[in-house]
Amino acid sequence: MKSATMKTENTVWHNQLISKAQRANLKQQKPALLWYTGLSGSGKSTVANAVDALLYKLGCHSYLLDGDNVRHGLNGDLGFSDEARIENIRRISEVAKLFLDAGLIVSTAFISPFASDRALAKAKLEAGEFIEVYIDTPISICEQRDPKGLYKKARAGEIKDFTGIDSTYDVPVTPQIHVKTAEQSVEQCAEKIVGYLLEHAFINVHSAS
Ligand code: ADX
Repeated sequence: MKSATMKTENTVWHNQLISKAQRANLKQQKPALLWYTGLSGSGKSTVANAVDALLYKLGCHSYLLDGDNVRHGLNGDLGFSDEARIENIRRISEVAKLFLDAGLIVSTAFISPFASDRALAKAKLEAGEFIEVYIDTPISICEQRDPKGLYKKARAGEIKDFTGIDSTYDVPVTPQIHVKTAEQSVEQCAEKIVGYLLEHAFINVHSAS
């Protein structure tokens, strides 16, 4: 039987009639990818959801790809080995790129622990489109929060390869946006991120009216 993951051959790239720029113009915004990264329980999903809600209120066209949700569908076949995480992030970055092509402001909320994978995601996009958002929450706080009880299980040895415990997390060196959820409210973090989009003209006051 042929493998389902055999490399694609004999396909040709088709240029589409409607361009990314045309789609973005229609939406009066510049496509961008807010790439959230941080430990499990750091607040990525919470902050990304708050940003998405603010963008919606401002009349912007956005979409959030969230770690746990994507692992229920598209990436339901992937676990948490290094190889599986690399494939997880590769697929997400390809999907995000398609969404940017549709003219959207995209948010991705995945641990994305390896700097090399985040760099690969950035390299797929146009200059300035990739905005790394470091959700910087100390592991001690994530562990106190432990919303899914996973740190407890990891400490008890019931879950292997848990990020920050027995699997690596590469701290972002030069994130475009750095937020500390232990020191700022969700609203403050979200406003800072939306502020970045306004300052860099991804969205404008026109789309805010
Ligand atoms: S990533 O490392 O591949 O980017 P992703 O963000 O998709 O991870 O999924 C992380 C979520 O999966 C965590 O928030 C947690 O709910 C769950 N999870 C289950 N097992 C693990 C594990 N071993 N390490 C980290 N997160 C895990």
